[in-house]
Amino acid sequence: MPQDRSPVLELAGITKSFGGVEALRGVDFALYAGEIHGLVGENGAGKSTLMKIIAGLHPEFSGRFLVDGQETRFRSARDAHAAGIAMVHQELSVAPDLTVAENVFLGNQPTNRLGIVQWRRMAREAGEQLARFGIDVNPMSRLGDLPIGQQQLIEIARVLFSGARIIVLDEPTSALSPPEVERLFATLQRLRDEGTGIVFISHFIEDILRVSDTVTVFRNGRKVAESVAAATTKGALIEAMIGRGGEALEHSYTDDLMLPTSNGGSVVLKAEQLSLARSLREVSFETRSGEVLGIYGFMGCGQQELSRILFGKLTPDSGTLSVDGRPRRFASTADARRAGVALVPESRRAMLFHQEPVYKNISISILERISALLLKPAREREIAKRQVQQLQIRPPVVGLDLGMLSGGNQQKVALAKWLSYPPRLLVLCEPTRGMDVGAKNDVINIVRDLRQRGLAIIVLSTEPETVLSLSDRILVLRRGAVVREFSNEPVSKDRLLAAA
Ligand SMILES: Nc1ncnc2c1ncn2[C@@H]1O[C@H](COP(=O)(O)OP(=O)(O)OP(=O)(O)O)[C@@H](O)[C@H]1O
Ligand SMILES: [Mg+2]
Repeated sequence: MPQDRSPVLELAGITKSFGGVEALRGVDFALYAGEIHGLVGENGAGKSTLMKIIAGLHPEFSGRFLVDGQETRFRSARDAHAAGIAMVHQELSVAPDLTVAENVFLGNQPTNRLGIVQWRRMAREAGEQLARFGIDVNPMSRLGDLPIGQQQLIEIARVLFSGARIIVLDEPTSALSPPEVERLFATLQRLRDEGTGIVFISHFIEDILRVSDTVTVFRNGRKVAESVAAATTKGALIEAMIGRGGEALEHSYTDDLMLPTSNGGSVVLKAEQLSLARSLREVSFETRSGEVLGIYGFMGCGQQELSRILFGKLTPDSGTLSVDGRPRRFASTADARRAGVALVPESRRAMLFHQEPVYKNISISILERISALLLKPAREREIAKRQVQQLQIRPPVVGLDLGMLSGGNQQKVALAKWLSYPPRLLVLCEPTRGMDVGAKNDVINIVRDLRQRGLAIIVLSTEPETVLSLSDRILVLRRGAVVREFSNEPVSKDRLLAAA
């Protein structure tokens, strides 16, 4: 906090409520030029809400808002943009049907004197910008055809190179692999040194401590702590965030962890020699009842393709699947579901309905089993209420539209769907992405409970911590091939990274 200068951005006594929900209560926040300001807090603490106020997306709030010392009021995102503020949102906000180049220049296309968009120049400049950021894609390809991680990188690149002097990144690293995170951090540090003010939100507290100059902690709509990053610790931040024993949740998986011997459960799913174009090469494995199989690898290692094959969304070029010893060909997701396979995909948007209440989002998996007529709304709500309680979804109001929940709580709803009628095999892609440490712990407990009930569970993740916290056995995928299996032996974050 360079105290000798005045902040580029200053918010004082900010209060914001949505209907009855008070998302922010009297929050003060200041950002300086040439500063990276880390922001942490539980799911629903109000981080995104404050950032959306800064980005002009919530014009209605009370409190003072100053840019360069001048009292300001943004009416729209356009106003914020004009003031030099740009934001990477927690949920992807790219346009999947436009090309990569159009996305990079979204709303900012280069035009000639007649106002005509200069397509060739746009493609060339987009390609150059992305290459600087280490992204090698054809600027003319349709963005929606790229993997989620690459879409996220492109969105980040768009904001970083927009020339904005205040940049907000709301959980930008969730879909990035370690080398991509390194590149992002190097770019942030360079922009900081050039005088940009940066707000960085993440649930990865080690990242926050590494990259930030200042760290602020939110809890329940209030700012509860602010500190120079070098003067605080992970444990202290967690303690401030959730107000209970930080040490228990502080696990960073740097030490060896002993994987158990096989539980001897029956084989639920067997995959043999699965290959798919350039994505997968002769992938074979088994999953057993009462066992969690972790599949770890960097972005683009083939995890997403594998999960889609297991759920009948993609057909492999060769190889076979069998469930409970019987060979199966999944021509559709309906086939996979009939065989007892359930999938929670990485992009929760694909599965959830933002305009529908929470209870509908939870009961939808049940409705696919029981006819809609048999399930009375009261019963639907009752089942949902139990899940909401078990998962500590906040606010615990099943009638709220899903879109009103914070990112991490939406993720919990995606999991809750499977709790009342569990399948034989549950495939979880990035199950704790965007969750705070407490919520991650809740998910660990839920997965253990489902394992106890005899489900076979596959967890696919690009986060070593996620795989290590949940798995009994771990496969490492690299460029579409299984390169290592960890079972009944010590494993740690370093060992996983080294194998990938
Ligand atoms: N558009 C909205 N309508 C109603 N309530 C909302 C809306 N946006 C946010 N909220 C509520 O405001 C509170 C703060 O949400 P916010 O998204 O700011 O949390 P967050 O700190 O970003 O959490 P996460 O880590 O899960 O992303 C939550 O209780 C949330 O349900
Ligand atoms: Mg958020």
